[in-house]
Parts: sequence; structure tokens; C-alpha cells
Amino acid sequence: MKRIGVLTGGGDTSALNATLKGIAIQAEEYGLEILGFVEGWKGVLEGRYVALKPDMIDENRGGTLIKTSRTDLRKVEGGIERAVENLKKIGVDGLIPIGGDDTLTVGAALSQEFTTAFVTKTIDNDVGRNAPEGERVDYEEIINYFCPGFPTAAARFSSFVRDLRTTAYSHERIMVVEAMGRDMGWLALSGAYGDADITIIPEHGLNYERLKDLVTRRFKEQRHLIIVVAEGLKDEEGNLITSSPDYMDAFGHAKPGGCSEVIAKRLKGDLAKQLGTSNFNHLIPSYLQRCGPPIELDRNCAIALGRKAVEALYRGKVNHVACTRRCEDRIETVLLPLDEVLELDKEGHVIPRRVDKRFYDSEEMNATPEGLEYFKPLLGPKPMPYRYPVLRIQTA
Ligand code: F6P
Repeated sequence: MKRIGVLTGGGDTSALNATLKGIAIQAEEYGLEILGFVEGWKGVLEGRYVALKPDMIDENRGGTLIKTSRTDLRKVEGGIERAVENLKKIGVDGLIPIGGDDTLTVGAALSQEFTTAFVTKTIDNDVGRNAPEGERVDYEEIINYFCPGFPTAAARFSSFVRDLRTTAYSHERIMVVEAMGRDMGWLALSGAYGDADITIIPEHGLNYERLKDLVTRRFKEQRHLIIVVAEGLKDEEGNLITSSPDYMDAFGHAKPGGCSEVIAKRLKGDLAKQLGTSNFNHLIPSYLQRCGPPIELDRNCAIALGRKAVEALYRGKVNHVACTRRCEDRIETVLLPLDEVLELDKEGHVIPRRVDKRFYDSEEMNATPEGLEYFKPLLGPKPMPYRYPVLRIQTA
């Protein structure tokens, strides 16, 4: 093993450069060369790369130095073969794809023909496996406890939600806040750590009648409300609630985004009169959720995972994934075989990890205590919720 290739694919995160840094440092320690393919799988397909050195990479800067794209090599004629040919021509001995379900789907296909090691990344947190079913959640059994990039996005999102309460309270607003996370509700659930009053995740769909009841009850109690919705939410007929229904990406995914506006408008139409307010708002933090510097835990784990992936290739542990694991309240890193981490469907696509059923109460539409506990090692102890005294308003 002399020369290792690396690429970053799919949506960027705050911790990608940290993983690249870990890879570059470990490679230098082993005396290996690192080549970064530019724009993910596209760079491998077109044979475009740069030589990477640790001092080129700022682990505290979000995004990815070597850029990214959503390229599905399996949909390009002869794509996998061309990629392998290029890798061999350039003299790459092992490849480290860093990505979410789509990038790793391509990686898993390519791993049949080329030496690979993987590091996950995605603010969607949907690569890995939940703890075995049962009454108690064994958090140490979660495979890939979190994907790098998720802790930072969750810290940002939960803090937006927490802070929003001050203005929601002052103006007696009903605010519907939209979290990213294409298919799954992990990031939306982090809003519950920021004390969202209601959280709706795609795994349980939209029960609109229940939502209306909860909004009515909770607004009457506290005169303001923060509702978090996951962008991947589907309506009662199972259709994605989105403002761009006709858009599809290279992997055939409809583009989510805009369900907060649809839901806020629908609630306003149905409840404004009854609740005596028309102050229904929606808010989409969008890419603000996945930009900026990584939080310390995310950065340090991402560096350690990058190092681990290089170590895997160096020691001949091929087709392994560098994963996070919880040990009491700490996070460790561990190498696991690809098929223990990823579950593939019939077409060979990675099946995204759902929010664990035990983490969500569909009656109350919010995180359970087990769900909140999941976030503890990522976000630290949960701050006290904002509380307001009852205002005894007097009249002249
Ligand atoms: O997959 C990561 C993610 O941020 C999703 O949460 C989101 O739906 C999607 O990427 C956005 O895609 P794009 O960066 O192409 O707009």
C-alpha cells in the first residue's frame, strides 16, 4: 500500500475536512501518499485528483476541500469499470469513499472489484443500524452511533429551536420549523433537545387530525408554539410534501423542502378562527444546518475515523467501515465489516436507518426520554427549558 485515494460525495457537512485531515495525518505517519479525487465519484470517473498534505486541510472549516457531487456511477454506462481503470492507471492501491447512503451504495458496488475502506458522513445520520429490539435500548449496541457531521448539525438545529422560543413567546407565534434529513427524522428529533413542543418525523408520517388537536391544546396552554417538521414528511396519501415535486437528483430522489410552509398554511386555514390568531409562521434554516465549523466532538471523532480508515487499508482490513460507538457517555471509534454496517436492498442501495421506534412517541408527537438520552453524548446535558411566569394582566 503506497498510494491511497479519497473522495467526498453527497451533501457536505461541517466535519468532512476533519475526516480528510485524519486521513492525511495517518497517511503521512505511515509514509503513504494521499490523492483527493475532486467532486466525489465524478472525479474518479474523470480521473481528476489533487495530492493532499495535512497542512492543506483546515479541520475546523466546514464543507469539503476536495468538493462533492451526487454522481451515481452505477447509472453511467461502464461507470464502475471506468472508475476502477482510472484508479489503477493512477496507481491507487486503496480507496476511501466518505459519504452517506448514496455514496456508500456506489462504494459497496465498487468494493467488489477494488480495495476500499469507508468513513460515513451525513447530517441525516441514517447510515448504520439501530440497537437490537427490546424493551431497553442498549445504546452501546448501536452500530455507527452517529455519522460525522450529524452532531454539529444537531447542535445547530437544536439551538435554533431553543432560541426561537423567545420570539415565539413575545409575538405569540405558532412557528413551524423545518429540519433537513431527506428520508429520516434524526435531525428533526434533535429539535426536541431544543424543547420543540411538537416534532413530526417522516418515519411516522403526518397524522394531521392529531396535529390539529395537539396544536389547539398546547396553544391554549402557552399562547405560542414551536413545531418541528422533518423535510421528508409525507402526506396522508404517502406523497412527499415538497415545494419542488418535479425535481429528481442523480439517485432518483425527489427533492424535499417546503413542507413547513404547507403545514403552517394548512393549520392557519383550519385553526386561525378557533384559536383567535393568524400568527402562523414557517422557517427553513436549510443549508445553515450543515455549514460552519464542526463542534469539538464531531471534529475529533471525524479525525479519528479518518485515521482508522487509513489504518484499515494499511493493515489489509479491506471493505471495513470506520464507525462511531457509544461506551457509557463517551464515543469511541471502531472498524467494522461493510456488511455489518450497511443493509442493502435488492438493487444494492443502502437502506437508510430509521429513527429507533423507542425514541419517538407518536401520540404526543415528540421524542421519548430514550430519544433524548440518545443525544446526550453528542450535545452534552440538556439545558433547562425556557420557562415564563404567568403574567397577571390587569386592566384599567
Ligand atoms: O443528504 C444530506 C442532505 O443535506 C439532506 O438532508 C438534504 O435533503 C439534501 O442533502 C439536500 O441536497 P442538496 O445539497 O443537493 O440541496
